[in-house]
Amino acid sequence: MKISAVGHYAPDGILTNQDLEKVLDTSDEWITTRTGMKRRHVAGPEQATSDLALESARKALDAARLQPDDIDCYIIATVTPDFPFPATACIVASKLGAKNKPAFDIEIACSGFIYGLTVGASLIRSRVYRRVMLIGAETLTRIVNKRDRGTAILFGDGAGAVILEEAEQNSFLSSELGSDGSRPELLGVPAGGSRKALDALGIDSGQQYIFMEGREVFKFAVTKMIDATERALSKAHLVHSDVSFLIPHQANKRIIDAAAKYLDMPLDKVLINIQEYGNTSAASIPIALSEAVHWGKLNAGDIIVFVGFGGGLSWGAVTWKW
Ligand code: ACO
Repeated sequence: MKISAVGHYAPDGILTNQDLEKVLDTSDEWITTRTGMKRRHVAGPEQATSDLALESARKALDAARLQPDDIDCYIIATVTPDFPFPATACIVASKLGAKNKPAFDIEIACSGFIYGLTVGASLIRSRVYRRVMLIGAETLTRIVNKRDRGTAILFGDGAGAVILEEAEQNSFLSSELGSDGSRPELLGVPAGGSRKALDALGIDSGQQYIFMEGREVFKFAVTKMIDATERALSKAHLVHSDVSFLIPHQANKRIIDAAAKYLDMPLDKVLINIQEYGNTSAASIPIALSEAVHWGKLNAGDIIVFVGFGGGLSWGAVTWKW
């Protein structure tokens, strides 16, 4: 089983640190040193998550020279679906022209691609399907409070797609997933679900937007990135020096640097594109992977660690032989 093709899409709209300086009490210097971010891509008013996903999916299908009906199952990892239901994956499969294919969403925030990779690879390994399309797609700028400098600077929109396909080689070496739902108040959208309806009062106090305890999430993120990577490597009987590339979730350059340092990973082995996209949640890892493929960075046999963390709280790492 292998990844046979990739594709990514980022909308044309750009939000720079300088743009944010004009509307928030913040600065390019603060954002750059605290997060590593410079720009984010922003979906146009007519674009929903399925539209971004669709673009990335078409690129992956073109790269693989496959038709939408050649894919046996569509999975989308997202926390910004087009609607609470139906699933965005159903919409994307139909827009592509795939007929009656199974399609479902995975909602586990920034860990979505790692969870999805584990599910998709397992569906193929168990011979349920021969080809699975996995897409991480988000329009997070729709759910940030543009007046909250603590979160408005962090998030961007985009989509990345991979086609997982049966093959003689086994690329999926190990997976380590985890969650701790005991403190949902640390990171999430407070209202709009069955726990708390979104009423006028909620809207006035911004409860339809992402809330995050940044410092707490920061500490958790560094610890879990390291721990999940170590465990996934150990399950695959690999050591740090076996790793060719670390492809981490892009939430904060300081989180990535701290984890890379602990894992003895020189920064030229760590794929970072946070300066261009900000945090695109479930889309960040497949976008980074797709860019790496397009730039010819990856060689057959390379050992890759995909690692992510996010709302849930949740985390995960997958080791992969390219
Ligand atoms: N511009 C200027 N100052 C700011 C800004 C800003 N945009 N935001 C916060 N500050 C101020 C704060 O008010 C605070 O001021 P004070 O000292 O006077 O109180 C000061 O800067 C420091 O604030 P901290 O929150 O301690 O800043 P920190 O260094 O922790 O950086 C950040 C904040 C970037 C949010 C960081 O905590 C972080 O990256 N956390 C993790 C985020 C993450 O990984 N999220 C992933 C999941 S997202 C998902 O699942 C969808």
